Amino acid sequence: MRIGVIGLGYVGLVTALVLANQGNDIIGIDSDKKKIGMLSSGKATIYEPGLDDLLLKVSSRIIFSDDYGPLADAEAIFVIVPTPVSNDRIDLSYVRSALGAASKINKSATFIIKSTAVPGTAEKFSAEFGIKIVSNPEFTKEGTGIQDTEHPNRVVIGSPDEASGDLVEAIWSFTRSPVIRTNNKNAELTKYASNAFLATKISFINEIANLCEKIPGCDVEVIAKAMGLDERIGPHFLKAGLGWGGSCFPKDTKAIVTFAKDLGEQQNIIESAVRVNDGRIDRAVSLVKKVWGKGDLSNVRVGMLGVAFKGDTDDIRDSQAVKLMHRLVQENAKVGVYDPKAKVADSSITVYASKEDCVKNSDIILVTTDWKDFSRIYETVGDKPIVDTRRIFTSDRRNIFSIGKGEA
Ligand code: UGA
Repeated sequence: MRIGVIGLGYVGLVTALVLANQGNDIIGIDSDKKKIGMLSSGKATIYEPGLDDLLLKVSSRIIFSDDYGPLADAEAIFVIVPTPVSNDRIDLSYVRSALGAASKINKSATFIIKSTAVPGTAEKFSAEFGIKIVSNPEFTKEGTGIQDTEHPNRVVIGSPDEASGDLVEAIWSFTRSPVIRTNNKNAELTKYASNAFLATKISFINEIANLCEKIPGCDVEVIAKAMGLDERIGPHFLKAGLGWGGSCFPKDTKAIVTFAKDLGEQQNIIESAVRVNDGRIDRAVSLVKKVWGKGDLSNVRVGMLGVAFKGDTDDIRDSQAVKLMHRLVQENAKVGVYDPKAKVADSSITVYASKEDCVKNSDIILVTTDWKDFSRIYETVGDKPIVDTRRIFTSDRRNIFSIGKGEA
């Protein structure tokens, strides 16, 4: 099939490459000329495991362009552009401009919105531009994007009619995943409900972690493991830590709360999940002060391992680690950071080229992103205190202080 993909961010690029790998001819469109130049010369624009190799492998089946012209004869056109929030309300301007521009070139294609968009979006733009739009939310995670796109837990297809839904189902048939066929609005809301539920699950376990810290001998990791063995609860997204960040949960929880409010409905649970998450930074700062033994962190050399919003990605969008970094700077600490992939540019911090340098030049070490490799740092730390906000250390050591653990 000849398929267009508008928007080559984390999800768009992975989708384009995975579909090319399935034998489709792909036209990848992005307004960023620099990105198009890099991708056309075979260079990945983001870090995602396996992406470089896949880009090389499918290069003969994909063209990259900042011009919508090549979309003229596409049968299907995915729209995978950002849907940020502005004043806690979804901003659909990128979706509108992508659909507007593409529909001028090609009105007969089936348009597929993969961007996270509030219920009613597909119907609204379908009427505005006179095109057929299918809602096909994505459930991939950064860091395992290729795997999640090739083997999703489910494929949700909300379509205005049988034929357009069939076409999208055919595109994803190689995944052999369960398919839910429904209307556009159900598909759109499924995405928000899923992300909000996952965020809530994390906030829930983080509150249990807070409680554990008050009960000598209690450890949230043990409790989460035991809870997760109950099939009704499940083991995933019960990892207590610094809280959730990234390009999805923070904006999607805000957008759905505001969307519901506009309809006269309060989403109490989601609002609480957001509040608990916002409180994670204060909790971490308090733990650092407690471990350091003073309420004043002025001139204390704090070494942060990790600025990405989670391990295996270079993405720092809405990263809790970055928020903590800024808070520590406000506390007058001398903050140094190391991350294997993510970059931060801030004149008030020192960026180290290796984790060893970061450790060597710090008085106290904070693990702030769950890069697997960080657990090996222990041997180089000596007696310095380590605050593990991501629970990457499994063994009990005298100088490791973990969130979610009551002092025995
Ligand atoms: C999330 C969803 O998991 C995907 O299903 C969805 O498709 C995607 O958003 C999206 O809407 O595009 P992602 O943001 O890539 O994916 O990352 P997650 O793995 O969900 O992690 C989100 C945050 O929660 C990270 O900061 C992570 O460190 C944190 N987290 C995750 C925890 O603190 N504990 C956990 O148990 C799991």
